[in-house]
Amino acid sequence: MNAQPSILLGVPRVARYMSFSSQADASAAASLASVHALNIGDQMVVGIGEPLIALWGGTVDDLRTFPALSGPGVQIPSTQHALWCWLRGDSQGELVIRSNAIADSLRSEFQLAQVVDAVKYGEAELGLDLTGYEDGTENPTGDDAGAAALVEDGSSFVAVQQWVHDLRHFSALPQSEQDHIIGRRKSDNEEIEDAPSSAHVKRTEQESFTPHAFVLRRSMPLAGEGAEGLLFVAFGNSLDAFEVQLRRMAGLEDGISDALFEFSRPIAGAYYWCPPVQDDRLDLSAVKL
Ligand code: HEM
Repeated sequence: MNAQPSILLGVPRVARYMSFSSQADASAAASLASVHALNIGDQMVVGIGEPLIALWGGTVDDLRTFPALSGPGVQIPSTQHALWCWLRGDSQGELVIRSNAIADSLRSEFQLAQVVDAVKYGEAELGLDLTGYEDGTENPTGDDAGAAALVEDGSSFVAVQQWVHDLRHFSALPQSEQDHIIGRRKSDNEEIEDAPSSAHVKRTEQESFTPHAFVLRRSMPLAGEGAEGLLFVAFGNSLDAFEVQLRRMAGLEDGISDALFEFSRPIAGAYYWCPPVQDDRLDLSAVKL
């Protein structure tokens, strides 16, 4: 399988997420050619959004634009862009240099619309969310991770969301209430069997969906002044598993919204197709390039 190597790697120390829109006068062929010229390596994931595929006049099976959703007391925005790059690294400085080079190489066809920085929190292999809860415990591992995240040809789909937390509100809650919001005990990370059905892990339990809805999550805490929250990233062999989880979180299945919304809200969301690679370049043959 020729998947982009970074998809199956764990969470890095630091990361930078770049979202690009097409320039007003962008040519589809030149846009895809400049994306094809990127050296993917093993420290970057590149995703292509529906707006760029539509500009090209093609289609990618299962790719769509992120849906804006409304549930009881809950709003989930869509901020779809044409192109997304997730840069992984060990130092923030290195990411600045690499991201500048990428933005410069794409500049004639793409406008850099948003840059978001994230850091790993906690020393354990799986990082912590800023609430202090381990994030990624129930991720599939080994062959199961590849099966959840990748299509047979090595391509993948990714759902990306930016969530803003109110950490002061959350940390002022009694410990048992915090645990019931997540559905796990912070002290030992054990799942709480009789947690309320609004608890986050009750809402999203991957085996509770028909068919099972497994995704490979690679979320990281936001970094930077005034930024407190989570850059949520989930890879899937389609976007369906993520979307059924999100709909249930929003209360669209049974009217019960996820308790996470008590202290956090999404402010951005997008879907991307992550093509396979060949010789460090994206293999865009699926869109006949
Ligand atoms: C504020 C945003 C979020 C935070 C802080 C958060 C945090 C967590 C934590 C602490 C866990 C428990 C440990 C683990 O298994 O990883 C978890 C589980 C999980 N989360 Fe989230 N999450 C957020 C948003 C989302 C979203 C938007 C989705 C998908 C739509 C999602 C899907 C899942 C899934 C699938 C699990 C594992 C459930 C299971 O099978 O037990 N999360 N999350």
